[in-house]
Amino acid sequence: MSEMTDKSHPSAKAPQKTMLNLGNLPPKLKPEAMKAAASSYPRTPSRVNPNQPPWPAYRGYHEYSFAHATMGVRLPTILGKAIDDVWKTLNQESEEDRIVDLVNCIHRMEDLMADLQNNAKLRPIVDDGAGDVALWNKEIAKFFRGKDFMNAPWLFAEAYKYRRLRESFSLSKYWVDYDVFFRQKCDTFSRSNQAVFELSTRFSEPAVNEPNLSEEARLEKKKLLFLELTQVCLWGNSTDLSLLIDMTEEDIKKLQSTGGDHLAATEKNILGNDLHKLADYVLTIKDGRVDFVLDNAGFELYCDLVYADWLIQSGTCKQVIFHGKKIPWFVSDVTKKDWDWLLNSCVYGQLFGEAKDEEMDSLRTLGHRWKQYEKEGKWRYEAHPFWCTGYTFWDLHSEAPDLFQYLSESDLVIFKGDLNHRKLTYDCHAPLDTPFNQAIGPLASESGAPYVCSLRTIKSDVVVGIPSGVGEKLDEEEPGWKISGKYAVVLLSEGQPGTKPQWSS
Ligand code: F6P
Ligand code: MG
Repeated sequence: MSEMTDKSHPSAKAPQKTMLNLGNLPPKLKPEAMKAAASSYPRTPSRVNPNQPPWPAYRGYHEYSFAHATMGVRLPTILGKAIDDVWKTLNQESEEDRIVDLVNCIHRMEDLMADLQNNAKLRPIVDDGAGDVALWNKEIAKFFRGKDFMNAPWLFAEAYKYRRLRESFSLSKYWVDYDVFFRQKCDTFSRSNQAVFELSTRFSEPAVNEPNLSEEARLEKKKLLFLELTQVCLWGNSTDLSLLIDMTEEDIKKLQSTGGDHLAATEKNILGNDLHKLADYVLTIKDGRVDFVLDNAGFELYCDLVYADWLIQSGTCKQVIFHGKKIPWFVSDVTKKDWDWLLNSCVYGQLFGEAKDEEMDSLRTLGHRWKQYEKEGKWRYEAHPFWCTGYTFWDLHSEAPDLFQYLSESDLVIFKGDLNHRKLTYDCHAPLDTPFNQAIGPLASESGAPYVCSLRTIKSDVVVGIPSGVGEKLDEEEPGWKISGKYAVVLLSEGQPGTKPQWSS
């Protein structure tokens, strides 16, 4: 297992007081029993619900799954660090009202910590006036009544923790928009100088058309560039902060190497690889629209923007829509504040102490161009509340029909990262060779379903869309392969783009 996912690494250590009370959980299933039961899956669609995914769910008490380490160790660690962050802010405050209000936020975070450590039942979200409360509480009441952090499906329990964290602040007077992860997100980008300039110095000047090239050669060149850029965008996902909480500068550099040799070497780590199919499709799009369902802020977002810039410059798209999160989510996910911060830092920031003038110039040029796209409406940042619910994307068409309708108007929807992939695939124990379009259910089969692409470095249990035998071999040779972030998938579903969603007139 690589250093970053080594469970014995200091960054994965739980705070000393972490103690789980597991006395009331159902008995553990033996792996053979799991296998035998698997033949009765996938469940028929009418029997699928958030507590019963198409294949068996991962749950915190499954010791063989990353769910166990996440619920028992990673989440308390992340929350402990978040509390430290708030103390830091509090120590810099001078007004008593604001301080007292923030102390109450810390108390609510401590209650959440106690609930996590004592494996409490999932209580309803307190009505803080936000539009998503009804969705959350409906899902809890319908599917998770009496469930606790460890026996609810991992995906729901983990998302619920981030919504509870939000509640700690949304009930306050002065700190409603406080982001406990903001410092970390900015800090990691500031330490990404090498890869940031590698890209900015290549892409600050818009691509020029080479008049002497034949149409065929031009297309071939365009395709090769697209293939490499897609890989840059894909591997930008390796640096998610919820896993790499204590990364060293060296670790970051290794992960972010964007040079050509590195990309050639890493293509063999793409286990389910629709890269060429994706390129052939994208090259047919002219003046179209691509949507990104974003994942992480900072360096990953920067890679996404370089990619989206090329989509505009190459005439592929006249519009790119970015879907971010409404609230701080899974540590490093992009919020509007992170989006604004990145664009403004590129133009006005002094984040990289040792940068050369020409490097800073190239970054500023990019930043100016990107802000201009935003002004002209060529780029749009949106944050639908559905992205921060506990629902998977199998329920997107039913729980957020407006969003489904909107996405169905796109030529391609790119989902970035591990969590989005878990949500696409219902985060369950599907066989490794399950075709991607089967694994994502309604998002591939509903009328109007758009082309969907998942660009994901593999950081958790669910893996689909890879050839038979590949995963089994890795299970024997590299037992940590599903959480190391060393492997990836680029999977494409062609959807039902010609057909209209059923409810549209
Ligand atoms: O906590 C587990 C997890 O949700 C995994 O899916 C992944 O390890 C991480 O958090 C988030 O990764 P990403 O930022 O790529 O969605
Ligand atoms: Mg993320």
